[in-house]
Amino acid sequence: MIYSRNRRLRVNESIRSLVRENVLTANDFVMPIFVMEGENVQEPIPSMPGIFRRSIDLTVKECKELFSLGVKAVNLYMKVSENLKDNTGKEAWNKNGLMQNTIRAIKDAVPEMIVMPDVALDPYSIYGHDGIIENGKIVNDATNDALARMSVSHAEAGADIVAPSDMMDGRVQIIREALEESGFTDVGILSYAAKYASSFYGPFRSALDSAPKDNMEIPKDKKTYQMDFHNSREALNEVFKDVEEGADIIMIKPGLPYLDIVSKVRELIDLPIAVYNVSGEYAMVKAAAQNGWLDNDKTIIESLTCIKRAGADMIFTYFAKEAAMILNK
Ligand code: PBG
Repeated sequence: MIYSRNRRLRVNESIRSLVRENVLTANDFVMPIFVMEGENVQEPIPSMPGIFRRSIDLTVKECKELFSLGVKAVNLYMKVSENLKDNTGKEAWNKNGLMQNTIRAIKDAVPEMIVMPDVALDPYSIYGHDGIIENGKIVNDATNDALARMSVSHAEAGADIVAPSDMMDGRVQIIREALEESGFTDVGILSYAAKYASSFYGPFRSALDSAPKDNMEIPKDKKTYQMDFHNSREALNEVFKDVEEGADIIMIKPGLPYLDIVSKVRELIDLPIAVYNVSGEYAMVKAAAQNGWLDNDKTIIESLTCIKRAGADMIFTYFAKEAAMILNK
């Protein structure tokens, strides 16, 4: 005779919803946004159907819509003109740069929106690297100084949280010190603590034209700073270091193929964890859905819920707007 029947708690939707452990809401999402120069212009990103690069005015409009759908945080990326790129990244802390103007415009129009600018040099680098290059190598400490200047300029423009995605050693501490010295004690740091060198970033790099350039003199990939996907213990080491240096939120990236890392970190860390459902993960679902091979809405909600189940407190995802609309139905 069987007494224990797990199916009792699955007999109908009411009982299933009563025993449900994790529920996704629009408040869990951070929407990554691509911004370009111009006025009233938007360009589709072919490898990310439904995602656009937009000028600041249309970006502000998008932020209003996102906020009204319950998405209360955006992560900003700039498409920088080739003529503004160099090996120092100095355009990254231009007070009137595209990023700084975007931050001001969003905070002005939607003050409650949490604005998280990306902090990394790759969109500003002639080499497409997240750091300054000397003698064919990405130099750590000089890059940190650039990232600190960049972070302070974001804070001056009104950023709530700066989000360094570069993976240089010690940059959380250097950025924290710079923010404190400039009086930005309430500006937080969301550090990409365990960020892997991943082929899933392909569509993002084409959106910003920020892929490492094919040049014999420089590394053609980011493996000297981003993590090796064969490793997991190393992720804990990265996370503990960033926590010690003063990170307020730590990020694990990519998302879906890396949920083992998320769950491991969750057990050991009480700070909020952000997980990045990256461009390649978005492209895969969209490509299959467009072919009728996967159910678009169900696959989106399932994927994002699984990221939350693994231990994420917030999810950076290009599905943010669409998922919020599905959840609000
Ligand atoms: C670069 C950066 C990348 C992403 C966010 N910030 C790409 C990279 O490291 O090359 C990827 C995001 C995505 O694929 O959605 N600092």
